[in-house]
Amino acid sequence: MAGIYIHIPFCKQACHYCNFHFSTSLNHKTALVEALQKEIKLQKNFLLGATIESIYFGGGTPSMLTEMELMDIFSTLHQSFEIGKTAEITFEANPDDLTSAYLQTLVKSPVNRLSIGVQSFFEEDLKWMNRAHDANQAIDCIHEARKAGFENFSVDLIYGSPSTSNGMWEKNLEKIRALKIPHLSSYALTVEEGTALGSWVKKGKMPDVDPAKSLKHFEMLQQFVQKNHYRHYEISNMALEGFEAVHNSNYWKRIPYLGIGPAAHSFDGKNRQWNINNNAKYIQALNEGRLEMEKEALSESDLFNEYIMTGLRCDWGISKAYIAKHFPQFNNTFEKELAAQVQLGALVEKTSSFVLADAAKFIADGVASEFFVVND
Ligand SMILES: C[S@@+](CC[C@H](N)C(=O)[O-])C[C@H]1O[C@@H](n2cnc3c(N)ncnc32)[C@H](O)[C@@H]1O
Ligand code: SF4
Repeated sequence: MAGIYIHIPFCKQACHYCNFHFSTSLNHKTALVEALQKEIKLQKNFLLGATIESIYFGGGTPSMLTEMELMDIFSTLHQSFEIGKTAEITFEANPDDLTSAYLQTLVKSPVNRLSIGVQSFFEEDLKWMNRAHDANQAIDCIHEARKAGFENFSVDLIYGSPSTSNGMWEKNLEKIRALKIPHLSSYALTVEEGTALGSWVKKGKMPDVDPAKSLKHFEMLQQFVQKNHYRHYEISNMALEGFEAVHNSNYWKRIPYLGIGPAAHSFDGKNRQWNINNNAKYIQALNEGRLEMEKEALSESDLFNEYIMTGLRCDWGISKAYIAKHFPQFNNTFEKELAAQVQLGALVEKTSSFVLADAAKFIADGVASEFFVVND
């Protein structure tokens, strides 16, 4: 069992909050798509022949790929990997790219799941964010995606923005319900260094994120998922039954994956590696038949900390039996901290594991860090 992530590092325009790796210049696009294929061939043994259960095109903006580019990438993937017949193949798309013609291209391709970056159904939000689409396009593309035959798709929303009132957030969630969106990824706005938002906040041109508002929106989200029978299976991800993301769930179960493209990360169960986050240097290295990347061997404490972090963010939680079996050296400190967090009400027992109490979900990473052990 394994997954492949493919990073498409181009965007039409820079969203003012985003610090993912992307370029708005398309000068290197053809060379980059060729380099992706070279990397796929170079890395074909990384997953030791495991059958590929999921492929995820992320970005950047994968929907900037042409039909030909997409087909070329798929054909190289098929030459190099054994892709399972029922593999989940997700494609991140921006609403402005999802024309009916482009959706036809996707439907004819092996893509069987879309992740649509809506962010908000309000112009007030979309404008300052510098999104390349308006609210109507956000709604229309969902109808068009369904019309084209996509039943399995996800929508991204951002909450806690200074421009989003509680009433607007409520209406955004109401739209998700009315449109019967099968999967929702919802993130608290974070102010990132090196973005326009980061510089506006520093200069006082835009208010900083108010943690009380983000918490309020998260609580509204929790009530929304409970009332509408979504499974809140990861802090930022909720799905109607049967629509949970295979690829992302496998990250959180620490199943090996190969990341292709600039800035993409890979994990083989014990080691992490990440490609250079520079398109020109990435292309140059592959033209010379090599990869420019960094590697890190994870220590036992890193693996333990990651188990705690991912387990607590997900609804399957963390288990005493797993720790006793895989990390006996940390068992004593783990059990002590577990008892303390249960006493505090942050964790609750659920069948054979411990999960975050609803009130502690917003501070998941803080609770997890209480368990962390320092590097050995
Ligand atoms: C890297 S983007 C790629 C998806 C696609 N290009 C798009 O914009 O729809 C993935 C998601 O991360 C989220 N995101 C990116 N930066 C964020 C930030 N600073 N705060 C909160 N969410 C963010 C957005 O919801 C976005 O849809
Ligand atoms: S949010 Fe998406 S479209 Fe906007 S800059 Fe980031 S990757 Fe590009």
